[in-house]
Amino acid sequence: MYESFYGLTGKPFQLNPDPSFFYGSSGHKRAQSYLEYGLHQSEGFIVITGEVGAGKTTLVRNLLKKLDPTKVVAGQLVSTQLDAQDMLRLVVAAFGLPSRTLEKSQLLLVLETYLVSVTSKGKRVLLIVDEAQNLTPRAVEELRMLSNFQLGEHALLQSFLVGQPEFRGTMLSPHMQQLRQRVIASYHLGPMNEIETRAYIEHRLQHVGWNNRPRFEAEAFQAIYQFTGGIPRRINTLCDRLMLAGFLSGKEVLAAADVSEVSDEIVAEGGSSVGVQGRGAGDGESQEIATRKASETVTRTQGSDIGPFGIHAANLEERLSLLEQAFSAAMSTAGPRG
Ligand SMILES: Nc1ncnc2c1ncn2[C@@H]1O[C@H](COP(=O)(O)OP(=O)(O)OP(=O)(O)O)[C@@H](O)[C@H]1O
Ligand SMILES: [Mg+2]
Repeated sequence: MYESFYGLTGKPFQLNPDPSFFYGSSGHKRAQSYLEYGLHQSEGFIVITGEVGAGKTTLVRNLLKKLDPTKVVAGQLVSTQLDAQDMLRLVVAAFGLPSRTLEKSQLLLVLETYLVSVTSKGKRVLLIVDEAQNLTPRAVEELRMLSNFQLGEHALLQSFLVGQPEFRGTMLSPHMQQLRQRVIASYHLGPMNEIETRAYIEHRLQHVGWNNRPRFEAEAFQAIYQFTGGIPRRINTLCDRLMLAGFLSGKEVLAAADVSEVSDEIVAEGGSSVGVQGRGAGDGESQEIATRKASETVTRTQGSDIGPFGIHAANLEERLSLLEQAFSAAMSTAGPRG
């Protein structure tokens, strides 16, 4: 609506984590470097935590976009409150493998066989778990077990765990010691500072052809920083409303008073401001996530115990044929995808 009034080619402050809008603040760049460093290590866990709306999912999308698919196969899952078996099933499904009707031992076999076949083609396998704060300790433990898959000296699966600050609590609990030993790097993504907040807003505007219409007064940028604390999602929510209000009253210049007016409205509607934890009302993306979570239910089947994970290249053919059998069995009962 306001885009055409201000001569913009699109909406600058959408709430979806679109990597084409990516702005590399010092924190985002740092987190990105940790992920890239982790990728080079090709084993273990990288843990990224960050405040709600700080840009974690955006980082993940940005990384996925940059990955060379001829070198890395990435599977991504958004976690819900999962128990250990559901975790395994979702990991299997994250790589597009059938999973629905399989029991634990079969799931492990399917996954291991897949990992070996990808690795033996010279590619690496990366698992990205977003919203890791929702993982139960047992689900985290299951992930740790998966990091035991090996081909000779090489780990077959590497994992990035991305979550809100509570996930640090999970990681620090005494029974997570074994997992902690496998974490090769971790980083906490904080908010942007005031200078970055302004640069972030300008960057997003320029991405949709902003030609200084509307013009933001310096104090408006300050007021935006004060209200949002430099958290990207809050900035987007506020700026979107600000632009709309500007358009409705035909303004060419946005001042601090305009920011205050809109931020008061957001607070009156129960939205978040600095220091208020949790997601604000009218936060489109969190609603989207909530819907997605609600639809992410998986069929549970009874699990069975398995032996050691180690696998040798010698029995690859045998594993592959078992995998094919598992695939066709699952296809005939569960349809094209588990
Ligand atoms: N570096 C960035 N460059 C451009 N936009 C960003 C950046 N970081 C975050 N955003 C924007 O901020 C909003 C929130 O980002 P994102 O969804 O990635 O946050 P999050 O940390 O994953 O949030 P949550 O804790 O709810 O999972 C999105 O609209 C996203 O586009
Ligand atoms: Mg996220």
